[in-house]
Amino acid sequence: MKVLITGGAGFIGVNLIELLLERTDWNIHVLDNFTTSDDGMLERVIGDSKQVRVFKGDIREREDIVAAMEGCTYVVSLAAQAGVLPSVEDPIYDMELNVKGVINILISAVELGVKKVVHASSNALLGEAELPLSETTLPQPLAPYGASKLAGEGYLSAWAASYGLNTVALRFSSVYGPKSINKGSAIAKFIKQIMDGDQVEIWGDGSQTRDLVYVRDIANAIYLSLVTDLPNKYEMIHIGTGTEITIEEVFDTIYQKFLDMGYEPKPALHTDWKPGEIRQNWSSIEKAKKVLGFDPENTFEENIEETIKWFIENYGEKK
Ligand SMILES: NC(=O)c1ccc[n+]([C@@H]2O[C@H](COP(=O)([O-])OP(=O)(O)OC[C@H]3O[C@@H](n4cnc5c(N)ncnc54)[C@H](O)[C@@H]3O)[C@@H](O)[C@H]2O)c1
Repeated sequence: MKVLITGGAGFIGVNLIELLLERTDWNIHVLDNFTTSDDGMLERVIGDSKQVRVFKGDIREREDIVAAMEGCTYVVSLAAQAGVLPSVEDPIYDMELNVKGVINILISAVELGVKKVVHASSNALLGEAELPLSETTLPQPLAPYGASKLAGEGYLSAWAASYGLNTVALRFSSVYGPKSINKGSAIAKFIKQIMDGDQVEIWGDGSQTRDLVYVRDIANAIYLSLVTDLPNKYEMIHIGTGTEITIEEVFDTIYQKFLDMGYEPKPALHTDWKPGEIRQNWSSIEKAKKVLGFDPENTFEENIEETIKWFIENYGEKK
């Protein structure tokens, strides 16, 4: 069995590779142009494994994709422009990767007889909608990033119907966990700020909520999507925790863990509310439970502890 992971050097990609190396004897091809990956992370995860082969290339170039996809049964599509703010600054670049790049992958997958493509989408494409967010919520993207992810899903659906390709769009909530040094999302940012001796900045009163899903659960959901026979040729599934947590609670948990580990973190600084910030956000994971047998494994507290331990072992060295 051979699987191609585009964006395999990124945060979710390296965690997925780690899980696949533990769980399978699959050959893993990685296609990445190393623009937002963390230096050296991929090499550390691969170690001396002979299962992984790395292709340096770009999803905007069909020949790069074909070279890496040759002989693959499965494709996991993670390579993307993955930030909301950068998408507002440069929507064309965002579209080139998240729309054109996805089409390139789908065309190549049909040409090369790939069995299934699992694509990373995002619940951000739904915008500020009634909660919980689910597969039946009407999409209304608030940023070009959401628009390009929505387009990506549209092409997955079209390729299933027009070319018979099995496709799955997984709509992730906000992902956190070990190996996220390259990320600017809340948990990675808070941990790095505390370790740098800086004050963590919380926008507004901290009552805004998020559905924060552990990266190991995301890797498991991708694995389950690859190996499970699903009812339809195109499936779109929300992957999160099915719960919400306030940013203030997130900070308090991280703060307490650092105190327990002998650090002296500074109290948070509450700054002005950022217009455009989503107030509340969480996804129903009933469909994921039903069709994939997906269930997040550990508690938030346990996962945060693992994440902080990983940062203490790895972030200090990198500074
Ligand atoms: N992290 C999250 O909270 C989250 C939430 C929802 C959806 N997602 C989606 O999951 C996927 C992975 O996210 P991540 O957090 O691991 O991001 P990341 O930025 O850590 O990883 C993306 C990887 O893609 C590579 N890449 C970028 N442009 C490329 C190109 N043109 N060709 C080849 N490789 C390229 C980067 O070098 C990087 O290694 C993305 O599609 C993202 O939109 C992430």
